[in-house]
Amino acid sequence: MDSIDPGMLPTERESNGISIRKYQPGDSSAIVEAVQESVATVGAWLDWCGSGYGPAEADAWIAHAISAWDKAEMFAFAVVDATSGDYLGGVGVNQIDQDNHSANLGYWVRQSYESRGVGTQAARLAVGYAFELLKLSRIEIVCAAMNRPSRRVAEKTGARFEGLQSGRLSVHGRALDAAVYSITAPAARRHA
Ligand SMILES: CC(C)(COP(=O)(O)OP(=O)(O)OC[C@H]1O[C@@H](n2cnc3c(N)ncnc32)[C@H](O)[C@@H]1OP(=O)(O)O)[C@@H](O)C(=O)NCCC(=O)NCCS
Repeated sequence: MDSIDPGMLPTERESNGISIRKYQPGDSSAIVEAVQESVATVGAWLDWCGSGYGPAEADAWIAHAISAWDKAEMFAFAVVDATSGDYLGGVGVNQIDQDNHSANLGYWVRQSYESRGVGTQAARLAVGYAFELLKLSRIEIVCAAMNRPSRRVAEKTGARFEGLQSGRLSVHGRALDAAVYSITAPAARRHA
């Protein structure tokens, strides 16, 4: 990561009708709408996705995402329909460990677009970005063991199941066991 200049990186990647791109200040209302319709689905697994999420939360997230990108601390992408530009969710390369060239991958898809392959495609695009442009060598996905859709996204992105970790995640105040997956560059290429 040392030699990466975030200002020189492409801000968008597209494939199979899905685009992932850097967040923009104008994304606020689309994020709020997507979060609000997804409280029952995404909100079941991600604490921040609740009925109280509004423009202030979206604005703060966008500002954080842009600032962290510009410092190469985190690469959070809006997931959008490549044709219409409609906002579908988010995917992010975060918890970057610069010494070990590794990071965590997170993702979510708004309720009205789930089960259409959006999550898998977005994850594949972000993983490709991480290996090819950020020069990372390992991506970790940590999801609740009971979160079947998230585990399927990991598996379909080429991730290898490394095991269960007890109480690794806290979801709405409950300690949940997590399934830990890892992806390396060769495995990701086979599933691109
Ligand atoms: C996980 C998530 C991103 C998957 O997004 P998606 O666009 O629906 O995923 P895909 O369409 O690519 O489908 C991936 C797999 O999940 C399955 N799936 C998707 N929605 C499902 C649902 N509601 N119930 C059961 N399975 C579901 C799909 O069938 C597919 O599995 P298959 O290949 O065995 O058929 C989405 O469900 C989500 O946002 N969940 C809440 C947030 C979250 O858990 N994030 C991960 C944190 S690590």
